[in-house]
Order: sequence, then structure tokens, then C-alpha cells
Amino acid sequence: MANGTWSPESWRGKPVQQVPDYPDLAALTSVEAELAANPPLVFAGEARKLKASLAEVSEGKAFLLQGGDCAESFAEFSANNIRDTFKVLLQMAVVLTFGAACPVVKVGRMAGQFAKPRSAPMEKIGDVELPSYRGDIVNGMNFTAEDRTPDPTRMMRAYHQSASTLNLLRAFAQGGFADLHQVHQWNLDFVAGSAQGERYKALAERLDETLSFMAACGLTSERVPTIAETDFYTSHEGLLLWYEQALTRRDSLTNKWYDCSAHMIWIGDRTRQIDGAHVEYCRGIENPIGMKCGPSSDPDELIRLIDVLNPKNEAGRLTLIARMGSDKAMEHLPALVRRVKAEGRKVVWSCDPMHGNVIKSESGFKTRPFDRILSEVRQFFDVHEAEGTHAGGVHFEMTGQDVTECLGGAQEISDADLSARYHTHCDPRLNGAQALELAFLIAEELKAGRVGRARPSQAAE
Ligand code: PEP
Ligand code: CO
Repeated sequence: MANGTWSPESWRGKPVQQVPDYPDLAALTSVEAELAANPPLVFAGEARKLKASLAEVSEGKAFLLQGGDCAESFAEFSANNIRDTFKVLLQMAVVLTFGAACPVVKVGRMAGQFAKPRSAPMEKIGDVELPSYRGDIVNGMNFTAEDRTPDPTRMMRAYHQSASTLNLLRAFAQGGFADLHQVHQWNLDFVAGSAQGERYKALAERLDETLSFMAACGLTSERVPTIAETDFYTSHEGLLLWYEQALTRRDSLTNKWYDCSAHMIWIGDRTRQIDGAHVEYCRGIENPIGMKCGPSSDPDELIRLIDVLNPKNEAGRLTLIARMGSDKAMEHLPALVRRVKAEGRKVVWSCDPMHGNVIKSESGFKTRPFDRILSEVRQFFDVHEAEGTHAGGVHFEMTGQDVTECLGGAQEISDADLSARYHTHCDPRLNGAQALELAFLIAEELKAGRVGRARPSQAAE
């Protein structure tokens, strides 16, 4: 059981899963020192602000939208990629906020989402066996000994790329790009002509009218800054603990420890062992924490994990991200939701409909059928409706690029289409049109009054 004194390095005394074997430990130590001497990427006060917003989500007053790449990469790093993912997230948020009158907390899987857990530590092709690719922060994707050898200096490159990404995101969020008057601008070219793009355009026109009405009433961007700016937060899986530890800093205002590599950090489905290093590390930082809950999650164990990760039962501290698979959600999710409610634990429930719905297409691509993704989201809403709890958010792997990685959706991407633009460095992502389509469907669920408003039974609790 995780207990005893916590320190940023106390995870080192625990069994650790899913991290590389660095052959050159002196190089690792030197990178850790270099990272530790670099400035934090986020400020503790921002993480506190996100926690307060997530507390609102846990109370059913807002909705969490979390999304971005499965894995960021060095090769696909560009201002256009960052801008386009940000655009889709803004589009989705406006569909949810304006379409369903529900405040949206926006969190990117961006500016630090580099490290990946893998199903096997080694990969074998023919007679050659090499370490598996674990994300650009660890090693390279090419199947050569040079690329696949874990290289700690990659952490510095990931840090600098994260700093630049975050800088641009902050500029977009605060500098006018996210102004609601720009709502038409966010419609990506390749989406604009599609059914979803048209639907979005119609919504944007209604929003324009509303903004004109508000301006006539004196509610302008100058007087109401939230029209012109947005809060946008960053998150990633806190997997590579040397990196996370090096960016763990004591907040000068509260004297508490924060992981300043991102606003929010989550624990993956494969690293949530209660005695393990990842739970140990995360229990001691003050950031909002996420934890993935897959089909092997057990209600008793979940409560013990909540005790470790959120002992004070603080609202907004813990987001449970269910990722069951569309065929397993009904079997596993209700018992977890019911138990957490019965024990009075304050959590945000979010739905990751991506990671339990991976299949191999007939032509051999790792893909995710849009129908299954949608079905898991719907089941998530159904379960919360039935249990009288809040369906608090969604967690997507998506990109603003016109990729062909997930089957189906209104564009009807077929197995034969997958090879056209299959660019992911890890798992298949929703493209902009598919992500927007999901946002409209979720807005309908929200509008139906399923969340965003406390029902009488909940108000009485
Ligand atoms: C991920 O979110 O990229 C991931 C690996 O998820 P999970 O831990 O749920 O498998
Ligand atoms: Co993934």
C-alpha cells in the first residue's frame, strides 16, 4: 500500500512498469540535472484553477473535453498541426457550450504527450529483436538498433518542444484567436464542405447573432473578457517518471509540490498498480490527476486507489477515465460508478471511447470503428443516467489533420481508405470531421438534460 513519506523521488523505491531500460545511466543522470535546472512549463496557480473547474464538473455544472494526439512526435511538430488540433477542440467546445448551454473545461493531450506504454517490451522482426518504440521522448520509431536504443537526451528535446507548443497555445487562447467572434475561422477547410461542417456553420451563424445581440446590450469583449479569451489546459500520461520528477517543483505560494510539466497528469490503465511507482509519484503532487479504468478495474481496488490518490476527497482532484470498449462497458462500468457513488467519493467520470475499441482491419491497419466509439460514449451516458451520477466528460485521441485512421463516420472511411493518410505515431485518431460529429452527438445528450443540470435526487444529496 502506498504510504509513508512522499518525496518527488519516492517512486524509485517501488516496482515500476512501462519505462525504458536506459543503457547509459550517467547520461540519464545528466539529463535529469539539466531538466531540473530548466524553468517549469506551467505555474501551480494554473493547475489549481483547473482543479477548481474540474470540481464544477464533478458537481455536474460543467463538462470536460480532453483530447489530442495519441502521441506527439518530433517529426509532426509544426505550428499548423498545433493550430488545427486547437481549432477542432474550440469547435467542439463551442458546439457543446452554445449547442447545449453547458460550460466546457478544455484540456489538450498536448505539450508533453510523448511517452507510450506498450504491450511488449521488445519487438521481433525476423531474427532481429529490438526494444519496442515507446514514444519520441524515449526512442525512435525506425526498426534499427540506433533508433530503438532508449536515449535520455530525447527528454530535453521533448521539453523544448512542449515549451514551444505551450507558448503557442497560450498565445492562441489569450491573444484573440479563440475570440468567439472568430468562430467561423475555426471551421477547418477539409471539414467545411462536409455535413458536419455545414451544421457547424449554421451554429456559428446563430452564435454571431447572439454576440451581436449581446453587444447591443453592452456585453462586449471589453466588458466580458471570456468572449475574447479562453482557458486552455495541457495534460499527458505521467509515464516517464524521470521526466516528471525533474519538473516537479515546490510552489512558492503554498509550499506544496506540483508537477510543472503539465496542468493535469494521468495514470495509464497499465500502470495503476496500487503499490507501483506511478501511483506513488502521483499521490504526492497537487495537480489534478486522471486515472484510466479499463475492464480489469475492480470496485474494491478502485476505492483503495481513490483513498491513496485523493485521501481528502477533494472535488476536482481525481478524474476517472473509463475505457472499457463498446462490448464491455455495460458489464464493467455500472458496478464501478455505483460503488464510487455509494462510498461518497467525489470524482469526475470521463469516457475514453478510444482505447477499448482498437481492432485490426482486414487490410491489416490498427484502427477504431467510429460506430464502436460512438456506442461506448452512448453507453457511458446511459450508465450515468441509470445510476443518477454525472457523465462528466470525454477523452479523445484526435487531430485537426484530415487523416484516415478511424473507420466510418459521416465521411464513411473504409478499410481501403485507411492507407491514404494514416499518419499516427501510435494509435488511430479521429480526424477533425469525426471529432466534430461526436461533439454534435454529445451536445444532444447534454441538451437532453442528462448532465449540466442537477436532478432532484442529486440536489438532495
Ligand atoms: C493513452 O491514453 O494513450 C493510453 C495508452 O491509454 P490507456 O492507458 O487507457 O491504455
Ligand atoms: Co493511445
